[in-house]
Amino acid sequence: MSEDVFTPPIGEWYHPTEDVIEQAHIPDYEEVYREAVADPISFWAKRADTLEWHKLWDKVLDDSNPPFYKWFVGAQTNIVHNALDRHIKTWRKNKLALIWEGENGDKVTMSYWRLWQEVNKFANILRSMGVKKGDRVTIYMGRIPEIVVAMLACAKLGAPHNVVYGGFSEQALADRIEDAKSRVLVTCDGAWLRGKIVPLKDVVDEAVRRSPVVEHIIVVKRTGQPVNMEEGRDYWYHELAALPIAAPRCETEVVDAEHPLFLLYTSGSTGKPKGILHTHGGYQVYVSTTLEWAFDLKDDDRYWCAADPGWITGHSYIVYGPLILGATSILYEGAPNYPYPDRWWRIVENYGVTILYTAPTAIRGLMRFGEAWPQRHDLSSLRLLGSVGEPINPEAWRWFYNNIGSEQCPIIDTWWQTETGGFMICPLPSVSLKPGSATRPFPGIVADVVREDGTSCEPGEDGLLVIKTPWPSMLRTIWGDDKRYVEQYWSKFKEQGWYLTGDTARKDEDGYFWIIGRNDDVIKVSGYRLGTAEVESGLVSHKAVAEAAVIGVPDEVKGSVIYAYCILRNGYSGSAELMQELKNHVRHEVGAIAVPEKIEFVATLPKTRSGKIMRRVLRAQALGQPLGDLSTLEE
Ligand code: PRX
Repeated sequence: MSEDVFTPPIGEWYHPTEDVIEQAHIPDYEEVYREAVADPISFWAKRADTLEWHKLWDKVLDDSNPPFYKWFVGAQTNIVHNALDRHIKTWRKNKLALIWEGENGDKVTMSYWRLWQEVNKFANILRSMGVKKGDRVTIYMGRIPEIVVAMLACAKLGAPHNVVYGGFSEQALADRIEDAKSRVLVTCDGAWLRGKIVPLKDVVDEAVRRSPVVEHIIVVKRTGQPVNMEEGRDYWYHELAALPIAAPRCETEVVDAEHPLFLLYTSGSTGKPKGILHTHGGYQVYVSTTLEWAFDLKDDDRYWCAADPGWITGHSYIVYGPLILGATSILYEGAPNYPYPDRWWRIVENYGVTILYTAPTAIRGLMRFGEAWPQRHDLSSLRLLGSVGEPINPEAWRWFYNNIGSEQCPIIDTWWQTETGGFMICPLPSVSLKPGSATRPFPGIVADVVREDGTSCEPGEDGLLVIKTPWPSMLRTIWGDDKRYVEQYWSKFKEQGWYLTGDTARKDEDGYFWIIGRNDDVIKVSGYRLGTAEVESGLVSHKAVAEAAVIGVPDEVKGSVIYAYCILRNGYSGSAELMQELKNHVRHEVGAIAVPEKIEFVATLPKTRSGKIMRRVLRAQALGQPLGDLSTLEE
C-alpha cells in the first residue's frame, strides 16, 4: 500500500558541467563505487583514517550477531573531538563555524574557537547538574545557536542527547522525555516564528508535569516574555553561564566507538514513536564522508542546510557533518517567507551562500510566490543545491534548478532516513541527473528494489526498497526495545539479512532509483514524518472522540496532508465548532504539523475482522479510487 504521491516521469538527463566535475572531490563515481563495494572494510577503514581517534579499532565491522552490527570495535573516540577539539589546534580556530540570523534580524557569528568555548561552558554547566556519561539529556529549543552548543556539550560528556523538534507539543514531548528517562532538559523561553512567539517553556512546563522524571531545566533566554521559573528546578542559562562553574575549559570524555551519541524519536508503522539510537564512531565517519563527497564541501564554502537541528537532517548535516569537516554553516531561525517571500534569497545573497540544502515542500512553497522574488537577488554565489525529505516532483526540481541555481548548480537529491544516519542514495556532483530521481547508492551502500519474495524487481517495476549490507551510521537499535528493532527492520528479509526501509521505489534501465513513497502507516507532511498512531491518539485523547483513523492524502505543496475520520462518543454530535476544537486539541497535544486538514465524523470505520483499521479503503474513498479487495472487511 503506497502513498502514491509521486509518479516518476520518463528520464530526462542533466549533465554536470566540466567545471563541476573538475573540482569535485570524487570525479568518477563508478570507480569509487566499485572499489567500495568490492572491499567495504578497507573502504571504511580508509575513510575512518581521515579522522582522529584516541585509540584505533581492532576490527572495522563486527557482524557476528546480526542485526546488532558494531563498527570500529575497540576504538576510542568522541565525535566532539573531531568536530571541535582538533580544529582549535589549527588555523581553523579563527574560521567561522556558524553564522546565525534570527528571524527578527539578530545576528551571531561564532568562530571555531568561540563555539568550542561555548560548548565547554555548557558542558561544565550540565556536569554541575549531575549529567554524566550515559545520561540522556532532552533538548527542546528553537533554531538558535545554543541548540547546537547544547547538543555538542552533551556529546562532549558522553551524555546522549534527545532532541525534540520545537514544533511538537505537550504530549509528544512528554512521551519522549518519559521514554528516554531524561533527568535534565534544555529549552528556551520561546522561539520566533512568523513574527510571533512560540511559547516553548510553557509547553515544557506541561510536559514535565505529565512526565515528572525531569529534575533540572536549563532555560536559554531568546524571546524575553515572562515565563514560569520553578525554584530549585528551573535555571536561566545566562545566570549559570556567569558562575565560576561555567569555565571555558572542559575535558572531552573519551568513549567507545559504539557509545550512544543520541536518541532521535521518529514515527513508525504502529504505536509510539521510537528512539533511534546512533553512536559516536561509525556515525562520525559516515556523515563526514557523505557530506564531503555529495556536497563537495570545501574550506571556502558557505554552506546552508535550511533544516531544523531537531531532525536527523539537522543532526547530521547542520551539526556534526559540517563541523567535522571544519565548514562554515548558516543557521536561520525563522520562516522562509517572513517578512517577505524573499527572506531566503536575501540570506543567500547577504552571506554568499554556496551550497543550499532544503526540502521539496519548502521549494514548492516558495515557488508559489513566483520568480520575481529570487530574481531581485544576486544568487550567483550558489554552486550546489540539495533536496531531502520526500520525492521532489520534476516541476519543483526544474524551478529550483532554473530560478535558484541559474541552470548551473547540480541538485543533490538525497534519499535517507533518521535510521540511516546519513545519505544512502544520492548523486555525487559529477553524476548525471534525472529530475525526481535520487540517482544511485552512495559508495559502500548496496541498495535494491525487491518483491515480497525477495527477488529483484525488473526495471520500472515498483517494489520494496532494501539495503543489503550494513553501513557505519546505521541505527544500532530502538532505545530500550531491541525486539521492535529486529521486527521492524530486519524480520521481513531475515534470511537474507537485509534492512527494510519502509519505502516503495523503482529502478530504471540505468539503475537510477526513484522513490515513490512510504509503504507503511507513516505520513510525510511537508517532509515531516508522522505516524498515523500518533495523530490518532492525539484525537482520541479528546473527550468527544471514541475512535479515530487518519490517512495521508496527496497535496501539491506539502506532499501529503492528513485527513481524519472520527467516531464520536455518545452524547456528542459533529459540528464545525467541534471540528475546530479537535484541530486545536491536536495542535496542543502533538504539534502544528499533525493538525488534520480535514476531519470527518463517521458512524463506523472500515476494519478487518481482527479489528485492524483498513486505511487503504479510507484513502481510496477519499481519492475517489476503486476500493480494491474488500474480502477481509468486517462489514
Ligand atoms: O520516505 C522517505 C522520505 O523520508 C523518509 C525518512 O524520513 P525521516 O526519517 O524523517 O528522514 C528525513 C530526512 C532524511 C524516507 O523513508 N525521504 C527522505 N528523503 C527522500 C525521501 N523520499 C524521496 N526522496 C528523498 N530524497
